[in-house]
Amino acid sequence: MTLRRFLLPLAALCASTTLSAQTPAASPDPLAPTGRWSAYQAGNAQLPPMGWNSWNAFFTHIDEEKLMGAAQRIRDTGLAQKGYRFINIDDGWWLKRRTGDGRLMIRTDQFPSAKGKGDPSFRPLTDRLHAMGFKAGIYSDLGRNICSQAYADGSEQLPQGSVAEREVGLYGHTDQDIRLFFAEWGFDAIKVDGCGIRAYAADADRVKSGQYRALTPIIDPLSLSRSDIPAVKALFADINRSLARHNPDGDYMLSLCIWGSANVRSWGKDVGNISRTSDDIAPEWGRMLTTYDSSARRALYAHPGSWNDPDMLFIGKGDFDASHLTEAKSHFSLWAMMNAPLLIGADLRTTPQPLIDIFGNADIIALNQDAAGNQAVMAFDADGFQILVKTLANGDKAVALFNRGLAPVDATLTADHLKFRDDSPIALANLWSGEKSSFTKEMKLRVAPRETVVFRAKGDRSLADGLYLSEQPGMVNPAVDGVVQPEPDPTIYRSIPGWRGTKGIGERPMYAGWGGAMADFTPYNQPLVIAGKAFASGIGILANSRMEVHNNGFARFAAQVGVDDSALTADQPVRFFLYGDGTPLASTPPLRRGQPAQPLAADIKGVKLLELVARADGVTTNAVPVTWGDAALLR
Ligand code: GLA
Repeated sequence: MTLRRFLLPLAALCASTTLSAQTPAASPDPLAPTGRWSAYQAGNAQLPPMGWNSWNAFFTHIDEEKLMGAAQRIRDTGLAQKGYRFINIDDGWWLKRRTGDGRLMIRTDQFPSAKGKGDPSFRPLTDRLHAMGFKAGIYSDLGRNICSQAYADGSEQLPQGSVAEREVGLYGHTDQDIRLFFAEWGFDAIKVDGCGIRAYAADADRVKSGQYRALTPIIDPLSLSRSDIPAVKALFADINRSLARHNPDGDYMLSLCIWGSANVRSWGKDVGNISRTSDDIAPEWGRMLTTYDSSARRALYAHPGSWNDPDMLFIGKGDFDASHLTEAKSHFSLWAMMNAPLLIGADLRTTPQPLIDIFGNADIIALNQDAAGNQAVMAFDADGFQILVKTLANGDKAVALFNRGLAPVDATLTADHLKFRDDSPIALANLWSGEKSSFTKEMKLRVAPRETVVFRAKGDRSLADGLYLSEQPGMVNPAVDGVVQPEPDPTIYRSIPGWRGTKGIGERPMYAGWGGAMADFTPYNQPLVIAGKAFASGIGILANSRMEVHNNGFARFAAQVGVDDSALTADQPVRFFLYGDGTPLASTPPLRRGQPAQPLAADIKGVKLLELVARADGVTTNAVPVTWGDAALLR
């Protein structure tokens, strides 16, 4: 709890999320119902994107042969049929920005097919990829300059020429570049990095030496108070406008890469199809844990069209190479369960078959690509062991038992973990071994060090006539999550990154998101409890919040609501409201901590979108956790 008092001042954000009681008449009330789903629906990412990206395999040393080699192997091994369809170029493709007309030039020595009669063009390459059935992705940066220019170790393929020619990022050229990438060169996806708005301060050595022009940083991954969130959002808004303009059919994929900085874990879902929640992954177990943790408790922030991105797969190297199949399978299982993009980062030309088989496990892929779009929710959570459960479109559950540590764990999987009845049998299929089994009530199993056991489970649902909201996080959008002063999340594993070792003071909790809405837990990762009554199912969120919920044909909404026992104050009254397509359906009187849970229910037949609002009366100084206990859509 002490961390919660470590509030970071963030004047910029306060301005955009004022509390209703303090809202001047002119500014819109963020808690007022809109009747509209506000998470990102543009582009084409109803399911998590699958494919390949050049970065983890080659860093900037990407060329056409390596890229086409990956595409060919994806086709030859049958991975293409299994859904891998994006072939994405990362950093390293650019030669310079031509002065005069500002057109971007390609490194034609690396990409010979780009050389033609006129200006270099990626069109021949994207044509080839399209003809093979793939989609093609390109890479850029929010700033004038790019990541490799900031963090090169000397061997990188960097842009060449004058200071101006080496400014290859989007800044000041957004519409021109997006037009070039999508309309002229035929790309279908773009990853937008953020080093250009982070690493080029006037006092940075690379700027002082005259190599690059200064651009006052607007993100600082280590400091929210030094990040200008509205300014960062404005840059993405520009990109969105250009993407719409140059993709009339809306067929594109926008990947945000600002590494969990600027509190993007709360708003990335509103501006892009996938959004990175942490700094880079590395082929190290500890680093994988960090990036996994940065997304793992964020199920409510992932939906069809807007997914959490814990970074690309590093299967094929280091702790995830062919001599570490247990680790490689865990990495893949976890990404599948989290509805993370499945972007292979290996040199597929030489990837051994056992690793291809991991990428190709159709049963695991099916969890990631399940039509319901629900990211797995934590059912058991300790530092060394976790149980993740994902509700699938046909009512089955996928469950992953994840041993993070180096000693075996004797685990008990219960019917409760699955929200299944404990008096009827539950059928299990082990998706790695193929073994079938069944149990009633509970089952014991030993999970090996670093192993992730994944089952598909069939059973009778405890809630026979509906679905808990926490079972369908993909349909629930915390449009306003009540977080006014974002804080770093202390639950994320702090690794020893290979690039720094134990130099310095080690990583502090650094990715904001702490206090965000959670499925089955409070925003501070406590069990949901109202006046001593615990709720195994429900949504935990802060007061002054508004959630949007898709209703796919259910007849009734019901919940038990109240201020959670973990609230720091008993003085703060909170009222709960339910809206259907913008119209009031039900509400409660003001409730305080210690008052028993109140029912909040309504008929919702024919309603398309529900909104669940918790409004703190008066001026609140504390973040007040509230609980939507047993919140469910019923038949
Ligand atoms: C950043 C990103 C990586 C990669 C590199 C390229 O570090 O987080 O995923 O794109 O830039 O330089």
